Amino acid sequence: MDPKLEAVSKVTVPEILDRKLRGERITCLTAYDYPTARLVDEAGIDTILVGDSLAQTVLGYDSTVPVTVDEMLHHLKAVRRAVRRALLMVDLPFGAYHTEVGRAVEAGIRYLKEGGAEAVKLEGGRRRAEVIRKLVEAEIPVVGHIGLTPQSVHSMGGYRVQGKTVESASDLVADAEAVEDAGAFAIVLEGVPRELAGIITRRLRIPTIGIGAGPECDGQVLVFHDLVGLSFQTPAKFVRSYADLTGTLRVALAEYRRDVLEGAYPDDRESYHWSPAVRAEFDRVRT
Ligand code: KIV
Repeated sequence: MDPKLEAVSKVTVPEILDRKLRGERITCLTAYDYPTARLVDEAGIDTILVGDSLAQTVLGYDSTVPVTVDEMLHHLKAVRRAVRRALLMVDLPFGAYHTEVGRAVEAGIRYLKEGGAEAVKLEGGRRRAEVIRKLVEAEIPVVGHIGLTPQSVHSMGGYRVQGKTVESASDLVADAEAVEDAGAFAIVLEGVPRELAGIITRRLRIPTIGIGAGPECDGQVLVFHDLVGLSFQTPAKFVRSYADLTGTLRVALAEYRRDVLEGAYPDDRESYHWSPAVRAEFDRVRT
């Protein structure tokens, strides 16, 4: 086993903050169910996010907007049963923190009490400072998320890289600082130029976790289904696919279908058998 994995038996919020002080990178992946969460945890990934991207990757919605707190909770519980070492984080979905702050705190409490989450993530910068503060006051660790925030797809007019002009980049720096000042212990930077991500990473005391934000962030996150080639869409520029599970699964499914149609599955080794005594007794009774 990797000696670094042995050194940390459980990843915690203080451990994530210390990583930045020690200059050690943080790994993060999404997971939405028991088997993928087990694989991710056993691979030694530091933090697992039950991301609202599950709306698209496993529920088939066309954006993250429709997914609900209850749907997220259902997946969170399955992931919780699998995860031993990683810090377990979950997204507050669109609508759960946009009206009364109390509703966001209630959803956060449900995630911790019923779902076993250890932190929640929400999208937005300065506008979210109050809700982040209230969640932290309620002992709910918070991860911020700025830049390309998928829940804002309609107001952004699509999924576009953010912070490409000096003005919008300055806005994102102010957003990052507001998220840190409000008490978040980490922040996701999504879909921003690497130069801007580098500047934000150097300005903040809390770690930045990048996705489509270049290599200068303190950590990286990817959507599990993108990483393993199971997302049924052309991957974004920043995605590196480490496997082609779609191809592998298509071959397996085609072979299964062929074997059943040809009578090649199941064969005798894949069948249960009577003992000779039962066979003899059955033949005696029936004849
Ligand atoms: O929902 C998600 O998967 C996310 C990550 C991509 C950061 O928010």
